[in-house]
Amino acid sequence: MPLLLFLLLLFFTPLIHATAAGEFTFHGFTASNFSLNGLTQITSNGLLLLTNNTKEALGHAFYPAPINFNNSSRLGSATPSFSTTFVFAIVPQYPDVGGHGLAFAITPWKDLPGSMPSQHLGLLSDSDNGNSSNHLIAIELDTVKTIEYNDIDNNHVGIDVNSLISLNSSTVGYYKSMMGDFTKLNLMAGDALQVWINYDADNTRLDVRIAPAKTPKPAAPLVSSTVNLSHVALNEMYVGFSASTGAGSARHYVLGWSFSLDGEAQALDLSRLPSIPKKGNTKKGTSVIVIVGLALAGFSLLLILVLSILFFCHKRRKKFQEVREDWELEYGPHRIPYVELYKATKGFNETNLVGSGGFGRVYKGVMPKSRAEVAIKRISHNSKQGIREFVSEIASMSRLRHRNLVQLLGYCRRQGELLLVYDFMKNGSLDKFLFEGKEPSLSWDQRFKIIKDVAAGLLYLHEGWEQVVIHRDIKASNVLLDDNLGGKLSDFGLARLYDHGSNPKTTHIVGTLGYLAPEFSKTGKATTCTDVFAFGAFLLEVVCGRRPMEFSSGHEDVPGLVELVTEWWEKGRIVEAIDPNMNGSFNVEEAELVLKLGLLCSHPEPTTRPSMRQVAQYLGNTARMPDMPLASLGGSIRFASFDVFSNDFGASFPSTAEVTSDHQSSTPTNSH
Ligand SMILES: *[C@@H]1O[C@H](CO)[C@@H](O)[C@H](O)[C@H]1NC(C)=O
Ligand SMILES: *[C@@H]1O[C@H](CO)[C@@H](O)[C@H](O)[C@H]1NC(C)=O
Ligand SMILES: *[C@@H]1O[C@H](CO)[C@@H](O)[C@H](O)[C@H]1NC(C)=O
Ligand SMILES: *[C@@H]1O[C@H](CO)[C@@H](O)[C@H](O)[C@H]1NC(C)=O
Ligand SMILES: *[C@@H]1O[C@H](CO)[C@@H](O)[C@H](O)[C@H]1NC(C)=O
Ligand SMILES: *[C@@H]1O[C@H](CO)[C@@H](O)[C@H](O)[C@H]1NC(C)=O
Ligand SMILES: *[C@@H]1O[C@H](CO)[C@@H](O)[C@H](O)[C@H]1NC(C)=O
Repeated sequence: MPLLLFLLLLFFTPLIHATAAGEFTFHGFTASNFSLNGLTQITSNGLLLLTNNTKEALGHAFYPAPINFNNSSRLGSATPSFSTTFVFAIVPQYPDVGGHGLAFAITPWKDLPGSMPSQHLGLLSDSDNGNSSNHLIAIELDTVKTIEYNDIDNNHVGIDVNSLISLNSSTVGYYKSMMGDFTKLNLMAGDALQVWINYDADNTRLDVRIAPAKTPKPAAPLVSSTVNLSHVALNEMYVGFSASTGAGSARHYVLGWSFSLDGEAQALDLSRLPSIPKKGNTKKGTSVIVIVGLALAGFSLLLILVLSILFFCHKRRKKFQEVREDWELEYGPHRIPYVELYKATKGFNETNLVGSGGFGRVYKGVMPKSRAEVAIKRISHNSKQGIREFVSEIASMSRLRHRNLVQLLGYCRRQGELLLVYDFMKNGSLDKFLFEGKEPSLSWDQRFKIIKDVAAGLLYLHEGWEQVVIHRDIKASNVLLDDNLGGKLSDFGLARLYDHGSNPKTTHIVGTLGYLAPEFSKTGKATTCTDVFAFGAFLLEVVCGRRPMEFSSGHEDVPGLVELVTEWWEKGRIVEAIDPNMNGSFNVEEAELVLKLGLLCSHPEPTTRPSMRQVAQYLGNTARMPDMPLASLGGSIRFASFDVFSNDFGASFPSTAEVTSDHQSSTPTNSH
């Protein structure tokens, strides 16, 4: 008898499996039995939460049974058509600063082995991107513009086949009618949005639509592609979701999902979907009750209370007073109340002080509500003019997002003081590792990765954003290292603060000696070329483990790093310039490439320097660096380095220095 039952089961199970696997609907995921991976969890009210606010992480959730994508085993001869719809929401940790996004995926592997977070969306990695043995079909809802993958913006839907470079993509929105009438949507608004994906096997056409939940399915698709999935799908495929976070984070939710092979997916009943937790908190009411109670208890008592509250509020307001002007209203989301920063740093306690650089003191803090670790930079600033322009830049910079930039989360303004809030980086700045010898010395691979990271971050500033952002102060101490020793550029654009409102006759140049391009000290104009020059100096210091200029107390000529490297090169022993702390274990070709690239970037003639895009290509080995005629070049580099740095500015400049551009006098100021 049990044997018979067993045989019956064996016989019928595949059948039940096949019909059940081709079609399903979930309103909430409490009883779903999905394969979860990474950060994914099912919340108590049934939401599928792919990622919480953990950074640089991913989450997967796949329907547990494979779907049969081979039609020939059933009737026809090709991949079947399919249709699916789901409702999702992305709730960023900070307004406009999200994770990387969410994707619907069809793949042969439930756990997507080797997949990476951040720009890879938990789907692929750098090594397998574009490989046809991925057998991956994905619809990405991407909230970060990744230049390497030709992303069009930081709010798009894309159709991906085996690669994160989309076949077709579009800014998120929907067409209300076939005639056009496009309405834009924001993926990161935290609202529930519904997606419909239809694949028509006869016409090999994949259509994607998106609309706010409770809006009917749009008439026209937002993006479509012609792709024969028979060439991509294997016989058995898993369907589900992937999401990732990067330097910024977000909660990625799926509320409900329905899928069907060969037929329209069952419509979702939106009233049965679990709800997304509300943002913010509501703590009113209790204080009202207290006051009413006290009023009943006695008018005099109330009077005393009110007076003391007024007194307390007055004191408190003075303590936490901020400067706010009408024009700042539009930057609302990026303005952080001083009181929160005060709490985060235990009142800017000395024990929270983690550094004091050229621009002011830096405190570590933990934000009271989100418990996020932040670095708070306190900058004293006296000039009234220019602050408006600067704050507008700050606000637009907090929309800059790249994994190789330290995320600016917001700002706060007080009398004579500006506070900038950044993501906190545990490992601190690169210069500590390179020059102070406190930390273990970095290996060649670590250095090369940091170099490529910084190049990617700078390329994004120069080309990836709607406007060109000049960093103005690239150097090892402005490169911070994350938990995995990945490099992130910080302080971009900060030098600008000292540009605004300064006397036009004595244009102040802000930057750091040894990194200032020769034309910059003449014209005082920062360009992408002056950034590339500083990047060249940075390359040399990372490889050589020395600062670009070692300053001595006297006025004698101390050779700069550019000169030293050029000299070794002339002798045909460029490798001798490499940091001895690596004990000779490095990749000679890579190190030589970086040194030569450092010299090319440090070329005195701005037009000879490569662009950051070219730099990234040389480093990524996708383009060959032009051969430099050393004979002509070496001399001019040396001349330039002497001309600009050694003779005029012999004094000691430990960090950010302010110098006047007319070469008559130099004012060594190390603190602002
Ligand atoms: C996110 O979830 C993981 C595991 O599910 C947990 O360990 C971690 O503490 C959570 N982080 C946050 C910021 O909620
Ligand atoms: C959940 O899915 C797994 C994998 O398909 C299966 O082995 C298991 O029996 C399922 N459990 C339940 C309770 O459905
Ligand atoms: C699909 O299934 C049929 C029958 O089971 C099999 O012969 C065929 O090779 C399969 N197609 C592919 C692409 O594997
Ligand atoms: C796939 O099989 C279904 C029946 O199961 C059939 O209606 C459909 O036309 C087939 N599709 C193709 C492309 O062969
Ligand atoms: C594609 O992936 C397969 C399997 O992982 C691997 O053998 C092959 O070398 C990869 N092809 C390329 C071009 O990387
Ligand atoms: C898609 O590719 C399969 C396998 O090569 C082929 O049999 C089928 O006819 C193609 N479909 C269309 C519509 O071209
Ligand atoms: C991209 O999708 C749009 C909207 O469906 C469509 O009009 C366009 O032709 C598609 N482009 C490509 C290259 O498939």
